Amino acid sequence: MRSPKDFFAPLAVGAPAPVREIPASPSRMIHFFDPSNEKMAAKVPDLAAKTDVLLGNLEDAVRADRKEAARAGLVSIAKATDFGATQLWTRVNSLDSPWVLDDLITLVTEIGDKLDVIMVPKVEGAQDIHYVDRLLAQLEARAGLRRPLLVHAILETASGVANVEEIAGASPRMQGISLGPADLAASRRMKTTRVGGGHPGYLVRSDPAGDDLHSGRTTYQQDLWHYTVARMVDACVLHGILPYYGPFGDIRDVVACEDQFRNAYLLGCVGAWSLHPVQIDIAKRVFSPEPKDVAWARRVIAAMGDGTGAVMIDGKMQDDASVKQCRVVAELADALAARDAELKAAYDKATEEALA
Ligand code: GLV
Ligand code: MG
Repeated sequence: MRSPKDFFAPLAVGAPAPVREIPASPSRMIHFFDPSNEKMAAKVPDLAAKTDVLLGNLEDAVRADRKEAARAGLVSIAKATDFGATQLWTRVNSLDSPWVLDDLITLVTEIGDKLDVIMVPKVEGAQDIHYVDRLLAQLEARAGLRRPLLVHAILETASGVANVEEIAGASPRMQGISLGPADLAASRRMKTTRVGGGHPGYLVRSDPAGDDLHSGRTTYQQDLWHYTVARMVDACVLHGILPYYGPFGDIRDVVACEDQFRNAYLLGCVGAWSLHPVQIDIAKRVFSPEPKDVAWARRVIAAMGDGTGAVMIDGKMQDDASVKQCRVVAELADALAARDAELKAAYDKATEEALA
């Protein structure tokens, strides 16, 4: 057992002190790019201007014979690009792969000062985070880094889900967790071949109206990921880190993608992955509260004064608990508005109208 007193001590002599709080910078979309693809690499500066997080992917979707090119590509892109307020993340190869050791050594040594977060795939339990934690401390010390790298786990193994609370609390470096529905489906032997989203076979059906079992029975498709997302959100909140929905593979189906993202948003996630530029706009729309909700939240906060007691607004009861719900929305809106003038204008306009 590790003493709580040691939790915030560096794990290697000369490594930077661990953070005590996870920065709440916007991360509505984690946009994936393949650094081995030169055409994609050329678009990075433009993408940086419209995304909260850009992630150089080294793991799945990068062919085995392109792994080294992807790693080297990420190093040169990171050195050559000014990312402004956009965070740079990477997804390294899995801990059992032949590439991950060189991924970590090269990236921390060469561009550790440019990287914000290292996403670790296929995390099975706290032991995986402990391994990465110590190794990063050693590499940071050697590279003379002043700021610790943060770690993000992908929840994509059945054992990871069983251990999600201990993963979330395994290190002060833990920044967040994303759902990885493709690997998770395979690990659990779920019978879906889709990358995220629902499945028409996973449904509920209303009772029969008479003797005919087939007619007049409404069915609703259910969300295959509800349980896991909700469990992940609780584990993240328990440990003060951030939950995310992962990939939605049907790029063409922007409607279902938006639904999946919104379900995650409503359940507490702060962002999702975007695998194609079209998904950047979807994530931006979904993970920014709507102006009318922000206006309502601000109105309730103003009416509730010191936040205690009860008031009626438009026939709806508000009290100490509902003002807290409103603060969640209003604080997120303020944080996003600080970076996005268009959103700020929309929030302020809606608030003025609501208060008029
Ligand atoms: C993501 O990595 C997934 O497996 O869904
Ligand atoms: Mg995966």
